[in-house]
Amino acid sequence: MSKDGAKTGEQVHLGDPVTVDRYTAGARINHWITAASLVLLAISGLSLFHPQLFFLTALFGGGENTRAIHPWIGVVLFFGFLGLFLRFWKANLWKREDGTWMARLRDVLTAHDERLPEVGKYNAGQKMVFWLMSVLIIILIGSGLVLWDEYFAQYTSVEQKRAAVLIHALAAIVIICVWIVHVYAAIWVRGTVRAMIKGSVTGGWAWRHHRKWLKELVTGKHDDRGGGAKPAE
Ligand code: HEM
Repeated sequence: MSKDGAKTGEQVHLGDPVTVDRYTAGARINHWITAASLVLLAISGLSLFHPQLFFLTALFGGGENTRAIHPWIGVVLFFGFLGLFLRFWKANLWKREDGTWMARLRDVLTAHDERLPEVGKYNAGQKMVFWLMSVLIIILIGSGLVLWDEYFAQYTSVEQKRAAVLIHALAAIVIICVWIVHVYAAIWVRGTVRAMIKGSVTGGWAWRHHRKWLKELVTGKHDDRGGGAKPAE
């Protein structure tokens, strides 16, 4: 092929695009079950939270059914997230470069990637979302159990339930905000959503956003402070 092959009408063959495995099928199924349960939990919870949103109970077969189903969806979310936690906690441990990344948040938001440190599988923002979700889900399940009269009424007092209602509602509002940040970031950083759909990312995406992770994959060197890279987890 000539150097200016495209001009002379020949096909320029650049080879197959490089892709890098990021998530196993199991991790993706685990993620989407967790994601669906949080969305359903938020809708059913909001429908019980304010009279103006009560119409949403129709999606779950009316008020009584929504009240019965909501805690069970919470149980699914808890175990779904537990699965994600066990898969990903190591890769979300805080590293030295994460402090630098946070200090340069302005460069992150203005896409000055060249001024950012090389990051591993997850950046500091993703790690904060991960740990916030972990803590909030524990608070939600804990306060939710206190409110679950069908099974636990005899173990809790009215005072405990008053406190639990407040904590439960506050934690729910915060996790919905964290979830919005998570989804917004996933869409904003182009090429990320396919990681959770197809299980792979492009080599360019990995080089641009998670260079340390890519280098670990290529060299086979593991970070001995935890969070070492495996092609797909
Ligand atoms: C429903 C909308 C959601 C979308 C579109 C979405 C999208 C994504 C994408 C694209 C990734 C891969 C990011 C990467 O590899 O760099 C990811 C990772 C992840 N997602 Fe979601 N997600 C959603 C909901 C949720 C929910 C509700 C939870 C938990 C309650 C969750 C927890 C996680 C976790 C733990 C990871 C791994 C990242 C880490 O460990 O820091 N996601 N998500």
